[in-house]
Amino acid sequence: MTYSTHEQLEQSLLACDACPLCRDAIGPTSYNGSPLSPLTIVGEGPGGVEDEYGVPLVGPSGQLLDKALASVGVTRDRAYTTNVIKCRPKNNRTPTIEEGQFCAAAWLDQELSLVKPKVIIALGSVALKYLMGPTARITKDRGRWFTTKHGIQAIATYHPAYLLRLTGKDLVKAKWEVFYDLRSAIEKCQELAPDYLLKSPEPPDLLALYSQRRQQRQTPKQ
Ligand code: URA
Repeated sequence: MTYSTHEQLEQSLLACDACPLCRDAIGPTSYNGSPLSPLTIVGEGPGGVEDEYGVPLVGPSGQLLDKALASVGVTRDRAYTTNVIKCRPKNNRTPTIEEGQFCAAAWLDQELSLVKPKVIIALGSVALKYLMGPTARITKDRGRWFTTKHGIQAIATYHPAYLLRLTGKDLVKAKWEVFYDLRSAIEKCQELAPDYLLKSPEPPDLLALYSQRRQQRQTPKQ
């Protein structure tokens, strides 16, 4: 099915039961931020907090992402954030490549063709493998520009969940690498969309926005 507006796509997405993953989740999660943004951030798939709120990257990984974005002058409300996989896999396991391909063919591909970002930041291995190809490796390919099959300029960086597991010198090194990857993404985005403000003039009340979405969400299945 092809959607002509982002609203139609979101409505159908929230009712999706096309694969078994939705049985173990409260439901599919959609996006957050602005569909008008030239910057799209693609994560892996929802965790527990995201499943509860119905919004991607709002739990511990999302909070670290917000800090990393702040260091390069971006607020989340001015970007568009989404995931390869829309439903939380049982016990938070990493989704398989096949699950990613199935879900993204139904949703992410169409999101990208409606949002038409100028730049994509892929967070972690699942997003990188979907956007660059299954042989891509995050340790080798992060920080390198490539063009997705949608014709969009993309760069991958480490997933914030990976940073949250690191300590000591490894953490310091990985944080710098993420900073340089994000800075490169923002520079490219400003070059391709010079009139777009990537930082909100007022600090956005993200919790209020997310809480609204949480209230609209159905109660958990038993
Ligand atoms: N990790 C992701 O990649 N996406 C989310 O929405 C939450 C955690």
